[in-house]
Amino acid sequence: MKIGIIGSGYVGLVTGACFSSLGHSVTCVDNDTEKVRSLKAGHIPFYEPGLHEMVTESVAAKRLSFTTEISSVINFCEIIFICVHTPPQSDGGADLTYVEKVAKQIATHLKKYCLIVDKSTVPVETGEWVYKTIKRYARKGVPFDVASNPEFLREGSAIRDFRMPDRIVIGVTSARAEKIFRNLYGIMKAPLLVTDIKSAELIKHASNSFLAMKISFANALARVCDVVGADVEKVTLGMGLDPRIGNQFLRAGIGFGGSCFPKDVSAFLYIAKRKGVSFDILAEVLKINDDQAEYFVQKIQKKLGKLEGKTLAVMGLAFKSDTDDMRCAPSLKIIPMLQKAGAKIRAYDPQAMVKASGLFKGVHFAKDPYDAARGAHAVLLLTEWKEFFNLDWKKILRVAKGNFLFDGRNMLIPHEMRKCGFHYSSIGRP
Ligand code: UGA
Repeated sequence: MKIGIIGSGYVGLVTGACFSSLGHSVTCVDNDTEKVRSLKAGHIPFYEPGLHEMVTESVAAKRLSFTTEISSVINFCEIIFICVHTPPQSDGGADLTYVEKVAKQIATHLKKYCLIVDKSTVPVETGEWVYKTIKRYARKGVPFDVASNPEFLREGSAIRDFRMPDRIVIGVTSARAEKIFRNLYGIMKAPLLVTDIKSAELIKHASNSFLAMKISFANALARVCDVVGADVEKVTLGMGLDPRIGNQFLRAGIGFGGSCFPKDVSAFLYIAKRKGVSFDILAEVLKINDDQAEYFVQKIQKKLGKLEGKTLAVMGLAFKSDTDDMRCAPSLKIIPMLQKAGAKIRAYDPQAMVKASGLFKGVHFAKDPYDAARGAHAVLLLTEWKEFFNLDWKKILRVAKGNFLFDGRNMLIPHEMRKCGFHYSSIGRP
């Protein structure tokens, strides 16, 4: 199939590359001239395992190309995915300016039937509004369909998630649109759920909000465990064995970050309120998450006392492992709090150093984990990178000044770290 992707950010580029790897002919459009030039030169603007290879292969096979011209995809593609940003506004609602702009541009160029699909995460009723916008600006009588096809890819495992999805959701209003989707996704071995557009839009917001709620539940639970001396991992294991609860996304830590959960929970809360529904549980999810960074800092202060003049080694800056994404990373909250209390920070991240360098003031960016630990009174684990599992922790102890280790991701095994000589603390584990 000929596929147009509008917006070559994370979702657009991954989606475009994955469809092209299935043999489709994909054109990715972006209005950022520099980004398109760089993509054409083979540079991927973010780290995602396997993506660079996939893009290089598809470009070489002429199945994937990049352009700034939206007109070069409309009327040439049977299906166009809108994958532009929907950033948060100050009131929590989603900013749909880019979606609207693209809808108008599509409308002005549209001459023959096209299926226009919203893949960006948008509030319920956006599809209806996109349809009306295109209808208003397009020439009279041009046939088109608007549909919703939310994406459920996770950063860091996006290619695997695309190839082996748990489900594919399409929100459509016509049999023609459904048929195009069935052709596109026919080869995927996943349940295809066909709904109306509004339900598809809600599935995305509700799924992300529910997952975020599980994490905040685990984090609040971890605080109870800390007080009473129980082990949150055992508690969530016991809960998760009940298939009605499930064991995923119950990992306590320093709170969720990234470009999706914080933004989507706020946007869902906002749209519910606007529709007159109080969904306050979502406000609490965000509050617990906000407090979790502070909770971790207080833990450190309780053990280390005054932080004035102390050096702390931070391992991991990205919002999670296998990505260089710094958006809403817990490190962005935790490091400034520690600095405010007088601590000096030496930080290391395997992938996010370049992106992080402009986001912090007064942080020493170390060349490796051992360099970060040099002279530090304590080591803080803020991202669960695999390479941190395999560190030579005895060497860390030798180069560090103190033996405190604060594991914000519950990734290390407490008794092993204590045996190694650390004064080890994590979240909700004795
Ligand atoms: C999330 C969803 O998982 C995807 O299904 C969705 O497509 C995507 O948002 C999106 O809307 O585009 P992502 O933000 O890449 O994916 O990352 P997750 O793996 O979901 O992790 C989000 C945050 O939660 C991270 O900061 C992670 O460290 C944290 N987390 C996750 C926990 O603190 N505990 C857990 O048990 C799981």
